[in-house]
Amino acid sequence: MSGIASLEIDGKKYDFPLTVGTENEVAIDINTLRSVTNGVTTLDPGYKNTGACESAITFLDGEKGILRYRGYSIEELAEKADFLEVCYLLIFGELPSRDELQKFHNDIREQSIVAEDMKKILDGFPQAAHPMGVLSSLTSALIAFNPSSVNVDSEEDMYRAIVRILGKFPVLTAWTYRKRAGLPLDYGDDTLNYVENFLKMMFKKPHSDYKRNEVVSNAMDKLLILHADHEQNCSTSTVRMVGSSHAGLFVSISAGISALWGPLHGGANQAVIEMLEAIKADGGDTKKYMAKAKDKNDPFRLMGFGHRVYKNFDPRAKIIKKAADEVLNDLGIDDPILEIAKGLEKEALEDPYFVDRKLYPNVDFYSGIIYRALGIPVEMFTPMFALGRLPGWIAQWREMRLRKEPIGRPRQVYIGENLRAFKDIDYR
Ligand code: SDX
Repeated sequence: MSGIASLEIDGKKYDFPLTVGTENEVAIDINTLRSVTNGVTTLDPGYKNTGACESAITFLDGEKGILRYRGYSIEELAEKADFLEVCYLLIFGELPSRDELQKFHNDIREQSIVAEDMKKILDGFPQAAHPMGVLSSLTSALIAFNPSSVNVDSEEDMYRAIVRILGKFPVLTAWTYRKRAGLPLDYGDDTLNYVENFLKMMFKKPHSDYKRNEVVSNAMDKLLILHADHEQNCSTSTVRMVGSSHAGLFVSISAGISALWGPLHGGANQAVIEMLEAIKADGGDTKKYMAKAKDKNDPFRLMGFGHRVYKNFDPRAKIIKKAADEVLNDLGIDDPILEIAKGLEKEALEDPYFVDRKLYPNVDFYSGIIYRALGIPVEMFTPMFALGRLPGWIAQWREMRLRKEPIGRPRQVYIGENLRAFKDIDYR
């Protein structure tokens, strides 16, 4: 492949260099496009064909169903690593030694105390408030109690802000759940590992000791790893965009939480369960919902199906589907909606509408079934996604700042009115 792309506009030829990545992805570098063509730009709603940056963090191949964090396959990491190791790998680029991991965990534990006054902000929310709105607000509010994490330019300041948010975010997530459940807020126990500590903060009952459950903590650890990063998805691109103005890490993550909330993105895991519950209530009539999903006049989509990049099986969905069987079996749970999900998947994978559009189950299709088995209420599913995606957001924000990327400012094609004279109100 030649290193040049040629463009012809009004009979004039323009050459642009090709950029080739380490996995042989090819991009046309159009950095000079507007200046050499006297103002011509590109148009690509949803950025389906547009690379926003170069990144060394996550590689995915949507056609082959490949996902790797810093070169390690998601299959190996889900099987052999734990979530805190994966956090370290995504953020700093290498798997940590035992000492590096211990120091990282100690630094995070040091920062896992949340200012008592944050509880006053939490108390201001109605009990029925959606946890994603609460979590986005609390994450933003953290900056008021950690002013030194506003302007983080040096790597040392970034590290301090990173261990702060990794320490405090699980507390805020657990508090958001307990507020809704009417439970007293709980603090962590720094004798537990990162994920077990989170589960303890979530589920410890005020009148009894917390009982660890190996199956639950292993399943949660695996789910968080599977959600940890996914290159330039909607919420990560939001974090990078907000961070590109040199807004702080916490507020950039708060913006990412808001983007993730959407039902087309991270909110799909909640929407999948609500859809499966509706099918169950409808006597398991999957055909009706398949027809709705295919009906162009019906806004209903088969939640948990399709993906902007994966035009093959989402590798995470495969791992989660296997884990769902194992977890329900280990916990002795017979959840009828798992069978409905499998039936729906089978039907969709045989239906020309889905086959022709390469619509396969994505990460959200089976994750909710495991969350339910772990005792997580449906409105907390997307906050679980956010907790998993936190290291990815941090890693991408840090990479963007260390590479000194320019402030994000896309162009547009104006299609509004041409110049016209102002009209006095009596003549309108
Ligand atoms: C996540 O980007 C990431 O990496 C995201 C994520 C991550 O880890 O960060 O992987 C997490 O967000 C997973 C996706 C969760 N969302 C859902 O499960 C919601 C349901 N899925 C769809 O809304 C949709 O598939 C998207 C939003 C995920 C992707 O949409 P695209 O790429 O913009 O595709 P499209 O809307 O252009 O659809 C192409 C065709 C259309 O039909 P035609 O106009 O060609 O006839 O496929 C149809 C769509 O109507 N289609 C669906 C469908 N998804 C696409 N039809 C029915 N049900 C669906 N789920």
